[in-house]
Amino acid sequence: MPRNHKDWLKEPSVEFISSECYSSQEIYEQEIEKIFAKVWIPIIHKSEIKNPGDYRTSQIAFQNIIIVNHGDRIACYHNPGFKGVAGTTDPKLKINRELHSEVKHGGMVWTTLNPEPSMSVEEWTNGSFDCIAEAIDTEELEVFHYHKAIIPTNYKLWHDTNSEFYHDYMHYFNRITGFNDEYFARACTGFDNGHVNVGSFEVQYDKFEGAKDRGALSFPGLAPNQWHMVDLFPGYNFNLRGSAYRTDSVTPLGPNSVMIEFRGYGLLSDTPEEREQRINDHNTIWGPFGRNLHEDLLGVTGQGVSMAPGTERRNILHGRHENNTIHDEVGMRHFYAEWGKYLNVDPSHPLKQEETQ
Ligand SMILES: [Fe+2]
Repeated sequence: MPRNHKDWLKEPSVEFISSECYSSQEIYEQEIEKIFAKVWIPIIHKSEIKNPGDYRTSQIAFQNIIIVNHGDRIACYHNPGFKGVAGTTDPKLKINRELHSEVKHGGMVWTTLNPEPSMSVEEWTNGSFDCIAEAIDTEELEVFHYHKAIIPTNYKLWHDTNSEFYHDYMHYFNRITGFNDEYFARACTGFDNGHVNVGSFEVQYDKFEGAKDRGALSFPGLAPNQWHMVDLFPGYNFNLRGSAYRTDSVTPLGPNSVMIEFRGYGLLSDTPEEREQRINDHNTIWGPFGRNLHEDLLGVTGQGVSMAPGTERRNILHGRHENNTIHDEVGMRHFYAEWGKYLNVDPSHPLKQEETQ
């Protein structure tokens, strides 16, 4: 029997979350305070502050952050000297307090507003980078590309689009260069703290008109033409496609507004010719005019329309089980189980008061 509107609103018999996780202002404010102000954030890459005295500014949970190259070390500071856009302020935070920071996983600078982080970055990422560790840690990396997108959608939908792969049918590039048996066997692996890996396979990059085999410029230790992905809780992606590496960082700006920063990387040792080829490989798919990334942005913007504040509560099904392979929703189940712990809510009914035991 086909289901009507009323049927779809009933309690599903498979795993699901509520669209209120995306549409509620109250949930969003809790996320800023209980997740983003607490966890390790990969804030910039060290190559962006190459020289002693170089600095960058950013924000975490609407708090101003300064990242400084002191010559012998990189340090991050909380600087409330100018006012943030909105959001919560922790009265315990002192002016120009130095924050905990580490340089880890391919030269990313990690910091946290948490004055007493319970784990190191290594403990936080918990093995999720092992699959690309040799590729990104053997040689120094360098950022060659940066752009950002501010789009009307919830930040978690950017995580979701990098976690479920059935939307890959939307991507012409991926249909042409992948979609063989190996692709459908890619494994999704969960790690503690909400992180997920998407396993690799050999991509036929040369099948896309104007693109070519990427084997010669593969990152260190990487088999030719691979594609690894690390989806880090609560919204950071590390995406290695053979010759080019990309990281995404989300900054939630509202329940239905997010800034996503995109960085592209090559090896510091690249010759000008090698770098040009990497940039070309990167931009073919991931540049603002490439054949993949803007399709994802359009996709999640469309989802944002249907789950903006004021829209009807709906059930988002996460019940697809396919032996932890590419279209299994295990990545999203893993993420939202962790997410619920931070907010002390059931993602299926996030606005219901927790019953006191
Ligand atoms: Fe996509």
